Amino acid sequence: MRVLVTGGAGYIGSHTVIQLIAAGQDVLIVDSFANAKPTVISRLEAITGKPLLVYAFDLRDTDKTEDLFAREQIDAVIHFAGHKAVGESVQKPLEYYENNLDSTLVLAGAMARHAVTKLVFSSSATVYGANAPVPMSEDLPTSATNPYGWTKVMIEQILRDVAVAQPEWRIALLRYFNPVGAHASGTIGEDPSDIPNNLVPYLSQVAVGRREKLQIFGDDYDTPDGTPLRDYIHVEDLAAGHIAALSKLATTESPVSTWNLGTGVGTSVLDVLHAFERAVGRALPYEIVGRRAGDIAASYADPHRAHAELGWTATRTIDDMCADSWRWQSQNPNGYPDA
Ligand SMILES: NC(=O)c1ccc[n+]([C@@H]2O[C@H](COP(=O)([O-])OP(=O)(O)OC[C@H]3O[C@@H](n4cnc5c(N)ncnc54)[C@H](O)[C@@H]3O)[C@@H](O)[C@H]2O)c1
Repeated sequence: MRVLVTGGAGYIGSHTVIQLIAAGQDVLIVDSFANAKPTVISRLEAITGKPLLVYAFDLRDTDKTEDLFAREQIDAVIHFAGHKAVGESVQKPLEYYENNLDSTLVLAGAMARHAVTKLVFSSSATVYGANAPVPMSEDLPTSATNPYGWTKVMIEQILRDVAVAQPEWRIALLRYFNPVGAHASGTIGEDPSDIPNNLVPYLSQVAVGRREKLQIFGDDYDTPDGTPLRDYIHVEDLAAGHIAALSKLATTESPVSTWNLGTGVGTSVLDVLHAFERAVGRALPYEIVGRRAGDIAASYADPHRAHAELGWTATRTIDDMCADSWRWQSQNPNGYPDA
């Protein structure tokens, strides 16, 4: 099968490209490199031993996207491309709505015109909103607390509407929990372009000396140690979930399927800190500060549907995730080089 991976130079896309190639799929990438460095491509080629076909353009460019589908045989699409920073989306809502919605509309339009009807979409646990009970199951109502989250809610709805109008489509909405970790080689990983928003990238930069200390936002939540619980999932397990979902689209009768990709385990901020300290081999500086607006006490998946329907389960532990994140960060203290 020939799979177009949008955002394939990004964090989750790059790890998924490796697993697609290992599974025998033929891959092509489109990425604007708005949030990726070209170096990732040569590293992917080194890991896979294959030259990669990469189109560097913005999916919102209707002509280029149309031209890509006219020129290339494409059997399925995995759509990672989009902006993803929650805080930035609050500051720049129009940019988020425009990029995430328009790129999806242009992509889906080209797919429809060229009869490409298999699509795996990167959704997020953020669609469960602020007050969802844990563990979170796919049947909960969706909502959001910030523009980024609303783009995911809206795109899910747009894709459901497409599938009503054209029931031959097979669409997977994958709701990721908190992806962390890196490829075992330590040569590809998460490389935030700004101050990291997420715990593990931030801790990685503290450990490597780029940030002074970790701030923990609140230790008075109703959780075992008072710090918030999240469902951290290794990016390699997440990538494997995409391979499983793609293969399921070949046989399922449902035009749209929704699957949580999480471990089902809630891990506290302090637990992650201690796991990261074990990976690094020393204590890391931190301070407890006040709660951060918008944070919730607990978010973790009910992963049973993905297990039952995809035969997929996350297997890597929080220690595996921290060890792999640390290998990537310590080998690449400043992330990917520019060249
Ligand atoms: N990382 C997470 O914590 C997380 C959690 C839930 C969902 N997701 C979703 O998963 C997807 C991938 O996330 P990631 O962490 O790999 O992000 P990422 O920023 O590393 O990767 C996204 C890639 O898309 C590219 N891109 C952005 N807009 C584009 C456009 N208009 N045209 C072409 N390319 C474009 C960027 O250059 C980048 O390489 C995103 O849709 C994100 O919202 C991520």
